[in-house]
Amino acid sequence: MKRKLLSVLMTGALAASMFVGCGTSTETTDTSAATTDTAATETTEDAGTTTAATGTKVGVAMPTKDLQRWNQDGANMQAELEAAGYEVDLQYASNDTQTQISQIENMINSGCNVLVVAAIEASSLGEAMDMASEAGIPVIAYDRLIMNTDAVSYYATFDNYKVGTVQGEYIEEQLDLANATDTYTMEITAGDPGDNNAGFFYQGAMDVLQPYIDNGTIEVKSGQIEFSEVATAQWATETAQSRMENILSSYYADGTNLDICLCSNDSTALGVENALAANYNGDYPIVTGQDCDIENTKNMIAGKQSMSVFKDTRTLASQVVKMVGQILNGETVDVNDTETYDNGNGVVPSYLCDPVFADASNYKEILIDSGYYTEDQLQ
Ligand code: BGC
Repeated sequence: MKRKLLSVLMTGALAASMFVGCGTSTETTDTSAATTDTAATETTEDAGTTTAATGTKVGVAMPTKDLQRWNQDGANMQAELEAAGYEVDLQYASNDTQTQISQIENMINSGCNVLVVAAIEASSLGEAMDMASEAGIPVIAYDRLIMNTDAVSYYATFDNYKVGTVQGEYIEEQLDLANATDTYTMEITAGDPGDNNAGFFYQGAMDVLQPYIDNGTIEVKSGQIEFSEVATAQWATETAQSRMENILSSYYADGTNLDICLCSNDSTALGVENALAANYNGDYPIVTGQDCDIENTKNMIAGKQSMSVFKDTRTLASQVVKMVGQILNGETVDVNDTETYDNGNGVVPSYLCDPVFADASNYKEILIDSGYYTEDQLQ
């Protein structure tokens, strides 16, 4: 009888979900490098009712605790995986690639059966990915694609190109660019060139806005338009801020209005908003963002940021937990895109969640009514 029960447990997610809370997890702080989760995963025949089954430990590698969203992603993943009965090894890597590699290697050595990885640097996880391949451990790329490896089995993310389209179309509609006779000034702040998503966000927005640059409706006074010129290493707020301070003092200090700040995400938007607060006296521009971070949502309410794109990390976490279960059970894994995300070694089957437009008029409905934030958090 016990033997039968164990063999059912070994099949993975579904059965494991009967034993909620049986696993343990280890979370390093951002300052510590990898730790090995030594929690026992052995299955013993006489262990009573709630010993964790082998085959159910999931390693979750997150980039950094510095940005709000990854804390939420990690917390959601851990909660959902544990609720499904998995043991979880959740690690954050202080945006340091070498730390992330060590953490992933430790996850492999400590017996994780599936890895969920949000890469810091898309192309720098080679060694760790090779090790996962050799150990036969499936890897799910979480939010960010891992490049140039065969080790990634699946990719779960939001529709990154659509995020950029939503930002670009917002600007187009707000200023009625299709019918504009005026010229609007714009500056662009994009994301980390090491993050495969950053190019998708940029391209999605630029495919909407480039025609208006070409026909003179939009003028980029700094002349910085190419992705390589507008990228922000590691999505750092301070980097975006100092670049915008330079642009403001070089091109807008004479009283020229800056009408549009296309920012790929909230951390870069925050830098731009800080620069505007310190160095700009003209009419306040449209500022775009992405993530609905708390600081940025407050800024939207205060009129310092025009919009953001809400990516409900709960949805992504649920999808990934589902994928983990399907992989462990040998079932067909749900994907909805088998064309867009080529990591250099081929197209990675992907599940794209839907990003949602957010601004001061709908934040209550999408952020508070849905339980994502409380009113208090936005005070
Ligand atoms: C994510 C964004 C996030 C950015 C910075 C991207 O890969 O998709 O949601 O704002 O990284 O962390």
